[in-house]
Parts: sequence; structure tokens; C-alpha cells
Amino acid sequence: MEFQNIETHEKDGIFYITINREDKLNALNIQTLSEIKTAVLAIYENPSIYGVILTGKGTKAFAAGADIAEFAGFNNVQGTQMSADGHAVLKTIENSPKPVIAAIYGFALGGGCELAMACHMRVAGEKAKFGQPEVNLGIIPGYAGTQRLPQLIGKGRALEYLLTGDIMDAQTALQFGLVNHVVATEEVMHTCESILNKIKLKAPLAVASVIRCVNDSYEKKADGAQTEIHEFGNFFGSEDFIEGTAAFQEKRKANFKGK
Ligand code: COA
Repeated sequence: MEFQNIETHEKDGIFYITINREDKLNALNIQTLSEIKTAVLAIYENPSIYGVILTGKGTKAFAAGADIAEFAGFNNVQGTQMSADGHAVLKTIENSPKPVIAAIYGFALGGGCELAMACHMRVAGEKAKFGQPEVNLGIIPGYAGTQRLPQLIGKGRALEYLLTGDIMDAQTALQFGLVNHVVATEEVMHTCESILNKIKLKAPLAVASVIRCVNDSYEKKADGAQTEIHEFGNFFGSEDFIEGTAAFQEKRKANFKGK
């Protein structure tokens, strides 16, 4: 498989996907998400792969969010499409019959945090940082952050981080259950590999079935995911969204007006 924005390789039955946009802190543009989806789908039926490790290039960022420069000029229709497509990519990870572990060094913000949360498990280095800072940009999370963060850390804690945009350090993420393990930076990959090596010894059909059963237990009747996609799209073109994304690109503080 030929990719522009991700690197992939297989070793001893583990499939490694590395987001390769280090100069942009591995920001997730549409092409990158589409490549991740293609790579993950390709291992669904591959009997020689028993697990996936998803990471970002370098130690500064897992992924610092959706690519602000790319989506800043989107209109409502493009925004809704962007969110729906992102949801679909992350569902591909969540529904993978092979376990997917996020190996997180540095920033996992916005879409980066959402991408990590779609994985079945998360292993963080001690300098990892998490957050949903979209409110700083005059928008909301668009890749299911409003859905998966409360599932993982509880509604009250999730609302605090979603509403303040505060950044969470690795130890707090461990305490709140956002990550499974926090280890020294140089131990992150090894820890992911040890978990997958245990799963390798289990029955593949049972592994796939556990993932399906656990996922199904979170399917809700009221469709929060659809609400998020619809409302995310509505922000595009709002004065505060234009101001928020411009402020980020001009490296200044945003001045929101509630419009
Ligand atoms: N989208 C697009 N580009 C991004 C990005 C994003 N989400 N996050 C970082 N980058 C780019 C920066 O624009 C910069 O590019 P440049 O060198 O061409 O100017 C480069 O990555 C390095 O980022 P920089 O901001 O200079 O690094 P920093 O160490 O000063 O700050 C962060 C790191 C993570 C605090 C900061 O980059 C940030 O706040 N990013 C956006 C986080 C966010 O809001 N995510 C949610 C998006 S929906």
C-alpha cells in the first residue's frame, strides 16, 4: 500500500501505523484520515495480523487535532461532511476485529484525542497530553469527542474538559481512565506490544466477538453522534468560528462574540 501521510509496516503479526506529518504535529487532514481508514480496513481479513499499533511520528505529538488550516475555510456542508467522514473513519478503528492500541507520545488534542479514544486501548508516555480544545476555535469536537470522552471518563469530568478546553496530563488521564497505562517514553511501544502478544495467544474469533459485544453495549437509542455531526457542520461560517480559526493561524487570542 502506498500512502502519503502515514507509514505502515508489519512485524511479527503486529501492524504498525504511524501518522507522518511531524512538522504539523501530525494534524489530521482529510487525506491522513482516509489513509488510516484504508490501512485499518486492509487488516480486517488478514489472518497473519493479530493487532494494530497506531502512533504519531516523533515524540511531540500523537496528533494535535484536525488540520485547522484545511478546515478553516469550510462551509456548513463541508463541515458536516468532514464530521460524518471522520466519524466513519473512527468507527472503522472501533469496529476492527483485531485490537487497535494507540501509542501516545506528546499531544493528543482535538481530533488526535478523538482518534486515540476510538482505539480499543491507549498507552501513554509520561509526557502525553490530552484535551478537546475545540471551544477555543469557536467550534465543538467533530470526531465523536462529545460521545467517547464521557464514555471513558464520565459525564462530569468530560463536560469540564469539553467546556474549558483544558489540557489533561498523562497521570490525570490514567486516574480518570482515559488511558490504560502511563509508562516512560521509551517503554510505550514495548508496553503496547506486550499487551498484543498476550492477545495473540487467545482465540481470534473470541477476540473479535469481545470487541463486538463491548462496542454494542455503548450503542445508544438517542443518537448523540448524529447530533454532533449536525451541530459541528452548523458552526462553519459562524463569526466565532472564523475568528477562532483565524486567531490560531495568526497566533493570537480569539475574541468571541457569541455569533
Ligand atoms: N492543525 C493544523 N496545524 C497545526 C495543528 C492543527 N491542529 N496543530 C499544530 N499545527 C501546526 C502549527 O500551525 C505549526 O505549523 P507552522 O510551523 O507551519 O506554523 C506546527 O504545527 C507546530 O505547532 P506550534 O503551534 O508552533 O507548536 P507549539 O509547540 O507552539 O504548540 C500546540 C503546540 C499543540 C499547543 C499547538 O500547536 C496547538 O494549540 N495546536 C492546535 C490544537 C487544537 O486546537 N486542536 C484541535 C483542532 S480541532
